[in-house]
Amino acid sequence: MRRTQIIGTGSYIPEIVKKNLDFQHHNFYTKENTLIETEAAVIAQKFQDITGIAERRYVTDDMRSSDIAFEAAKLAIEDSGIDPETLSQIIIAHNFGDVNKHSNQTDNVPSLAARVKHMLGIKNPFCVAYDVLFGCPGWLQGVIQADCFFKAGESETILVVGSETLSRVLDDHDRDSMIFSDGAGASVLSYKDSDRDQGILSTASMSHSVEEFDFISMGKSYIPDSDDRVRFIKMKGRKVYEYALTNVPAAMKHCVEKAGVDISEVKKVFIHQANEKLDEGVIKRFFKLFGVLETPEGVMPMSVHELGNSSVATVPTLLDRVRRGKIDGQEIKEGEVILFASVGAGMNINAVCYRV
Ligand SMILES: CC(C)(COP(=O)(O)OP(=O)(O)OC[C@H]1O[C@@H](n2cnc3c(N)ncnc32)[C@H](O)[C@@H]1OP(=O)(O)O)[C@@H](O)C(=O)NCCC(=O)NCCS
Repeated sequence: MRRTQIIGTGSYIPEIVKKNLDFQHHNFYTKENTLIETEAAVIAQKFQDITGIAERRYVTDDMRSSDIAFEAAKLAIEDSGIDPETLSQIIIAHNFGDVNKHSNQTDNVPSLAARVKHMLGIKNPFCVAYDVLFGCPGWLQGVIQADCFFKAGESETILVVGSETLSRVLDDHDRDSMIFSDGAGASVLSYKDSDRDQGILSTASMSHSVEEFDFISMGKSYIPDSDDRVRFIKMKGRKVYEYALTNVPAAMKHCVEKAGVDISEVKKVFIHQANEKLDEGVIKRFFKLFGVLETPEGVMPMSVHELGNSSVATVPTLLDRVRRGKIDGQEIKEGEVILFASVGAGMNINAVCYRV
């Protein structure tokens, strides 16, 4: 049977390591613009306790989102062994585009996909390059879109990249900014026959945009009297948390049921690295929906402790690192069923069930 298979992966981990205590000289304010008097070291410890994040990565001043997307894409193409001229699509998922250091402007023209295609030196005009904007689940949505194009007979091989430089849109006066980081993850997908039913088994997507639509949005700095024209990423943390806990497990369950596999076959869950507490809550509820009360040990590879939340990049980066044996005690084996899941601005949720 022909299915969408991941035939190559790559990722880019930015060079600058930013630890929680590196925020100790920041003046943090509440969203009501009141100074938070608590000592910075105490805030940092509290932050680590509630998110599990100890450090995150930022790009150097010379890099933009399309540059790191290109670095990850090169590795994925090399890993797949394909000739890049044979790609029928390049899909780049992001939310803020290229933002130069010391600028507050998003630069999306031409699309990041066009820039990456240019940097890869691909001349084939039938290799169509475009971007996807779907919050943190953008990379997974690109994968779902690729799967649909394959099934429609419109494409054979597609590069999907998730790339974000959130460090360029952070409010230095908002504690929640400590969650976010930079990164890029890429994968090459191909529509292929296999004798063991390998590849994407099912997909699921949702958008809740009623009262949820602004749980993650752009807003002005929390510092008093800030300039309203300068916008940063903002989130209603508690609302995002509750939304994810309520809706993500159900979407994952729907996807597994659609695939027709038994829960005991699901050996790994590659979930958006939002924060540790949230991910642990989601996975626990997911297994509970199938009557499994103990979350299987090692089922959820994690990288959020040292890489933070790099939005669209977390899932493809995690997949690449596990495939390359870079996460202790984590590997994926032929024949295993793995589940991908993500959640973010929109609010959007998606999941993909996949046999390795
Ligand atoms: C942002 C988040 C960490 C805040 O945690 P919370 O428990 O909801 O925060 P609350 O406002 O209820 O405050 C709880 C305590 O944590 C503190 N706190 C809240 N945000 C904090 C932060 N960013 N850093 C440090 N301390 C924080 C509060 O001061 C409070 O402290 P206290 O117990 O001493 O009074 C949490 O809501 C969250 O993880 N949300 C999901 C965010 C996410 O994953 N976003 C990405 C989606 S793509």
